[in-house]
Amino acid sequence: MIRIGFLHSVMRKDERLLLEAFRSWPDVEIVTVDDRELRFCLGSQSPLYDVVLERCINHSRALHSLRIFESQGVRCVNTSQTAWICGDKLLTSIVLAENRIPQPEVRVAFTEESALLAIEEMGYPVVLKPAVGSWGRLLAKVNDRDAAEAILEHKTTLGSYHHSIFYIQKYVEKQGRDIRSFVVGGECIAAIYRTSQHWITNTARGGTATACVPDAELAALSVRAARAVGGDIVALDIFEGTDGYIVNEINYTMEFKNSIAPTGVDIPGRIAAHVVRVAREHADG
Ligand SMILES: Nc1ncnc2c1ncn2[C@@H]1O[C@H](COP(=O)(O)OP(=O)(O)O)[C@@H](O)[C@H]1O
Ligand SMILES: [Mg+2]
Repeated sequence: MIRIGFLHSVMRKDERLLLEAFRSWPDVEIVTVDDRELRFCLGSQSPLYDVVLERCINHSRALHSLRIFESQGVRCVNTSQTAWICGDKLLTSIVLAENRIPQPEVRVAFTEESALLAIEEMGYPVVLKPAVGSWGRLLAKVNDRDAAEAILEHKTTLGSYHHSIFYIQKYVEKQGRDIRSFVVGGECIAAIYRTSQHWITNTARGGTATACVPDAELAALSVRAARAVGGDIVALDIFEGTDGYIVNEINYTMEFKNSIAPTGVDIPGRIAAHVVRVAREHADG
């Protein structure tokens, strides 16, 4: 019998689909672990699970829980290292750069003055993003100097310390869509286009999902980027640049419910199969 800890918060449709997918393995026991009820006693617990599958909504709960489970000897999917990198767009960009994986031009600065200089050196439009964040929240497309000055001042004055680590990306003309590709266990299993009238194409923000059959270049880039962040199960945001695909970000607790129908791929089934494989390997030592 293999024991899988299913770490979650509110059970969304994605989590329910995953639990359903695990039912097809008779020798797998799923133990649901609600992060709202978790209490860790550091240094005292022996491993309760072969693998923990992380499905939290909150990044810091995920990150810290994964790190503690790992210190107890539990193999986590994804690992805390992957969560740490992917949960932070700046760390992700550093890893992408180190691995020579194409990404939009990125600059980083720590004061209003240096950020404004960095923006003017890049040229408009640029996109300012909180390094930690998701669902398209608090992104700012900055088209001119007036907007840049206002946004930088607001972030510095009204935001917490984290909002003054300025992550500045060149705006990529993407013809109304980007690509979301899914990598599970080192394989690119599916992709969708996300199309929107708005420059922010997240499906959480009204973007529509349609099938995208990954070509060899897209699949290879997705797998290479997933490997760079050590990702077992990740979803990548990819732009179609003028010189080929470029990686915008990598998501480590990926949502997939809107992508099953358009792609026809049993994404929760593929995730469950990978987690069971990892659990068996870990249990066998
Ligand atoms: N540099 C950029 N150029 C063009 N569009 C962008 C850029 N950055 C983000 N976007 C748009 O905003 C969406 C959300 O940005 P993303 O970096 O993925 O943040 P989040 O973590 O909130 O999903 C992207 O899917 C894309 O549609
Ligand atoms: Mg995104």
